[in-house]
Amino acid sequence: MKGPVISNPARPKANAIVQRHKQVIMTSTMVPYPIVGECAEGALVSDPDGNVYLDFSSAVAVMNVGYNHPDVKKAILDQAERLVHFAGNDYYNARQVELAEKLVSITPGDFPKQVFFSNSGAESVECAFKLARRHTKKPCMLSFLGAFHGRTFGALSLSACQALHKKHFSPLVPQVLHVPYAYCYRCAYDLEYPSCDLWCAKYLDEVALRYSASEDIAALIAEPVQGEAGYIVPPQKFLAQIESTCRKKGILFIADEVQTGFARTGKMFASQHFGVYPDIITLSKALAAGLPMGATVSRAETADWDEGSHSNTMGGNLLSAAAALASISVIEKMNLCDRAQELGEHAMKRLRELKDESRLVGDVRGLGLMIGVEFVKDKGTKERAIEETERIIVEAFNNGLILLPVGLNCVRIAPPLNIDISLLDQGIGILENAVDKVAAG
Ligand SMILES: Cc1ncc(COP(=O)(O)O)c(C=O)c1O
Repeated sequence: MKGPVISNPARPKANAIVQRHKQVIMTSTMVPYPIVGECAEGALVSDPDGNVYLDFSSAVAVMNVGYNHPDVKKAILDQAERLVHFAGNDYYNARQVELAEKLVSITPGDFPKQVFFSNSGAESVECAFKLARRHTKKPCMLSFLGAFHGRTFGALSLSACQALHKKHFSPLVPQVLHVPYAYCYRCAYDLEYPSCDLWCAKYLDEVALRYSASEDIAALIAEPVQGEAGYIVPPQKFLAQIESTCRKKGILFIADEVQTGFARTGKMFASQHFGVYPDIITLSKALAAGLPMGATVSRAETADWDEGSHSNTMGGNLLSAAAALASISVIEKMNLCDRAQELGEHAMKRLRELKDESRLVGDVRGLGLMIGVEFVKDKGTKERAIEETERIIVEAFNNGLILLPVGLNCVRIAPPLNIDISLLDQGIGILENAVDKVAAG
């Protein structure tokens, strides 16, 4: 596979699988196109009809080291020959210990930490939520508008991304308060950065005062770059300021790095861009390079569970742990942090030019290879171009580019971090053409 090629646009086999999927699978899959993955390598995925697509989503920010990386594949196969599962929370195995040691050493903060392994991002957040309540013995949680932390009840209660996610699921976990994030393109306070002096971060002091932080608020959870809300990068000092409020008021600071972790933003963890040291970090997605795994990394002093107070069956799975160790090693050896940074700057330059030229592109923002492009009907009113976004995504797909929507009117540019620069350019070219075509009506 060298590049995207649509040789069979009718996609009979892919369409047949989509029809069968809809009969028997209870997902709410929402992409408006029939992408069926059959084989993949690097940043390219082929379907059963022989079409080849360039994936700008990394299968939802998971394939940071690319599909089918030989080192990851070898680690999985070697481990599968020996032992696949050995109840990581009930018995012991060396692989999860090695991985925990690695995570403790690479996550921000040179202090003792401990890790809890699970199977997904939502579970890593559930663990953080329970730990925060248990450790502080306080009930309330602070979170942000736009936040997405997962679909289980605790994680969903911390989220405020789309109304649809919560429709008919109440009652949720009580005592969660959402405050505005630093979404400068659509500031909740109608202010402008930097003259706002980061009012959204300052306002937390007021919230903490009104809610008696010392008695009531267990933790604040934040995505260092908001993911599902539209890849929203806060101003440089935002996170440090909210961390400082947490420290002053005795509130634990949880960073949800499920989507931003593992070099996606140009550093191993996005918190490192902002100089913050979270008490708890939640991880998943790219952690095990495509095998299911979640991890909650906490300051050791905070992780004061009673024996047996939190557990699961599959956490610390040996296959996932082997894949994770191999994937982190690839990130380090190939210096994918620097690469994400360089390629991100290159992509941002082209996308900013697109913004200047196209009436539909309202905002382009990003950190490393976590880039959001927001489409609007009118740059003055910023009315969301929801239907146009969908048409752009379908047009790009028809030309071999997988784009995943994010927010209501944005797309994410999040290819594998080791993508070839020529492929990256090719993908951006397909996106530019799709935007031009939809803008032309
Ligand atoms: C920041 C963040 N946290 C948590 C989750 C939930 O992860 P999972 O879908 O693995 O439960 C996601 C998923 O997109 C996410 O982006």
